[in-house]
Amino acid sequence: MAQDAIEFQYDGQPVRLPLVRGTEDETAVDIRRLRAETGLITLDPGYANTGACQSAITFINGEQGILRYRGYPIEQLAQGSTFLAVAWLLIYGELPSSEELERFEREVTRHTMLHEDFHHFFDAMPKSAHPMPVCAAAVSALTTFYDEPTTDDEIAKSIVRLIAKMPTIAAYSFKHSIGQPTMYPRNDLGYASNFLHMMFATPCERYEVDETVARTLDLLLILHADHEQNCSTSTVRMVGSSLANLYACISAGISALWGSLHGGANQKVIEMLERIAAEDGSADAFLRRAKDKDDTARLMGFGHRVYKSYDPRATILKSACHDVLDRIGGSSQLLDIARRLEEVALSDDYFIERKLYPNVDFYSGLIYQALGIPVDMFTVLFAMGRLPGWIAQWLEMRRDPDFRINRPRQVYQGPRERPLPAS
Ligand code: ACO
Repeated sequence: MAQDAIEFQYDGQPVRLPLVRGTEDETAVDIRRLRAETGLITLDPGYANTGACQSAITFINGEQGILRYRGYPIEQLAQGSTFLAVAWLLIYGELPSSEELERFEREVTRHTMLHEDFHHFFDAMPKSAHPMPVCAAAVSALTTFYDEPTTDDEIAKSIVRLIAKMPTIAAYSFKHSIGQPTMYPRNDLGYASNFLHMMFATPCERYEVDETVARTLDLLLILHADHEQNCSTSTVRMVGSSLANLYACISAGISALWGSLHGGANQKVIEMLERIAAEDGSADAFLRRAKDKDDTARLMGFGHRVYKSYDPRATILKSACHDVLDRIGGSSQLLDIARRLEEVALSDDYFIERKLYPNVDFYSGLIYQALGIPVDMFTVLFAMGRLPGWIAQWLEMRRDPDFRINRPRQVYQGPRERPLPAS
């Protein structure tokens, strides 16, 4: 029989902690009673060994490079599904029937417009603002236009609103930054195509959506749709655990995603490749810097807290990158540098010993660039993709029988009590 608890001695007393096993056999020590029974807490900087919840949404095996949404391999979803079907799957647990998908697509299409007063919001932002904080603020501002969703019906409506309005918010933040008039959404276009229209059409010129570009964008959104308890998702859960409303939680997730160690890495990869190209194009010289502890340079798009072999999303994107660049063009010079960096890094002891492989961000930026997406918008697209995952995780948390406000402890290392100096 499989072991169901671990036992150890503390302070001369036996302590018994139960084990919890997941459906894929990963095992956790349940420490819920640890402090009550021993006075001890656990210390785990960066939560590298801490399971914050039990979840039925996404499974990752970092050693074997496996990623599944609700049990379905990412490779199969990437090939045979659409972003809105995947969003439904993540949020509601099963693939949608054709009627459910049709209804969901129709509802999302009909809720893409923003309240006209939102134009004042964008006008109030400086033109130089990065679109990520503008998006985070705009999503938070949705709370001021709509009542806090509480019933299941209201929550379902908010989910549709968020998924529908996010591309509009994203495109408006871009249009604002380049000083062009915003474009209203078009109900005759699909999700990705409508976003491309709002980004690139102008009142003077239609934008003919290229099918390859739209399908590639949809693929990118699918690949980013969820990734279990990463930094931004844990942020959504953390903020949501105080019972903050859905829009506020998603806004917090967008802010967390922006950091360069997380979703912001896709922008940093292109900047890194461009810097290398502008200098001497040498992958080897840059890798020497990335390995040097006295240098702040890191090989952006490499390494992952969970994946200790190839990130399966990077595998899919690497081959998509070749296809897209072949079909619609793009910087083959940057792709060549990326390939060379990857090749050298994967045979270098520093990266081998630390199990550092390309992550999703290594090739995504090159594809965004080939699709004509400006660099500042890369992380915004990541946020658009991650939205259904954040929503699914928020919903799961709210319905969890173990639901409690998230409140970690600490080991205090500051001064002991001391009197205030007499004045
Ligand atoms: N370049 C050079 N060295 C690296 C890199 C890298 N990209 N990533 C990790 N290392 C080194 C670290 O310096 C450390 O070395 P040491 O053991 O000698 O001190 C070792 O590998 C372990 O790295 P940590 O930073 O401890 O790993 P952690 O799990 O905390 O961080 C992270 C993971 C943040 C992704 C890290 O690998 C990194 O900074 N990568 C570059 C940024 C990036 O691509 N982020 C996107 C991640 S995917 C996503 O969020 C969508």
